[in-house]
Amino acid sequence: MQYKKLKEADEMKSEFINIAAHELRTPIQPILSLVDLVRSDMQGSTHEESLDIILRNAKRLQRLTDNILDVTKIESRSLDLKQEHFNLKHVITNTLNDTLVLTNKGNKKKNMRFYYQPQDSFVEGDEGRISQVLHNLINNAFKFSKEGSIITVSTKLEDDNIIVGVKDNGQGINPEIFPKLFSKFASKSFSGTGLGLYICKNIIEAHGGRIWAENNNLINGERGATFYFSLPVRTKYLRKVVPTYE
Ligand SMILES: Nc1ncnc2c1ncn2[C@@H]1O[C@H](COP(=O)(O)OP(=O)(O)O)[C@@H](O)[C@H]1O
Ligand SMILES: [Mg+2]
Repeated sequence: MQYKKLKEADEMKSEFINIAAHELRTPIQPILSLVDLVRSDMQGSTHEESLDIILRNAKRLQRLTDNILDVTKIESRSLDLKQEHFNLKHVITNTLNDTLVLTNKGNKKKNMRFYYQPQDSFVEGDEGRISQVLHNLINNAFKFSKEGSIITVSTKLEDDNIIVGVKDNGQGINPEIFPKLFSKFASKSFSGTGLGLYICKNIIEAHGGRIWAENNNLINGERGATFYFSLPVRTKYLRKVVPTYE
C-alpha cells in the first residue's frame, strides 16, 4: 500500500515536471525566431549586443528545458529508441560541420581546428540520439578549450565494438567533478546545466555501449581530456532506456 502511494506520488511529480518543461519550452521558440529576425535588421546598431544577450539566454533556456524533458523521459522509462542501421561517419561529419557553423556565427572563440579522418562505421541504433551524444561531447570539448585548440574525433573497431573518441587539448577535467562526471547536475560551467553527460550515459548504455573519460597526458603544458563511447557493431535488440542513478 505504502509502496503504491509512493509510486503514484513519484509519477505525479514526473508528470508535473514534464508538463512544466513543455509549457516553459513553448514560448521560447517565438522569442528565438523574432530576436533573430530583429537582429538581422539591426546590424551595426547599438542594440546588437543586447539582442545577442537575449538570444544567448533564450537558447540556454531552450537547452535546459530540452534536457529536463530528456531526463524525465529517461527516468520514467519512456525514452524509446529507434532501431536504424546507419553510418557513424555521416553523423560525425554532420556534427563537426554544425559546430563549425556555430563557431563562425558569432562565437568569440576563433581558430578552433577539428580533425577527423572519415571512416565507414556501420552501427545499429537511434541515429538522432547518437547524434545528440556526439553534439554534447563535441560542444563540451569546444567549451572547455581555449581559442585555437584542436578537437580530434576518432573511430576504431575493437572486438565487436566501435569506439569513438573525442579528444581536446583544453583545461582537462576538474578533479572535483571527475568522480561524478556522468551524474546529474555535475557542472563546472556557467552556461551549462550538468545534464548533458548524464543523458549521454543513459543513451549509450541503452544501446548496449559504454561511456567513459580520461585526462590526457601533459604535453607542452596542455592536458585536455578525451571522452570515449563504445557501440556494438550490431545490437541485437534495443531496450527502453532504464535509468542509471549515480
Ligand atoms: N571536454 C571536457 N573538458 C573538461 N571538462 C569537461 C569536458 N566535458 C565535460 N567536462 C566537465 O563535466 C561537466 C559536466 O558536463 P555536462 O554534463 O555536459 O554538463 P554542462 O556542459 O552542462 O556543464 C562540465 O561542467 C565540466 O566540468
Ligand atoms: Mg555539456
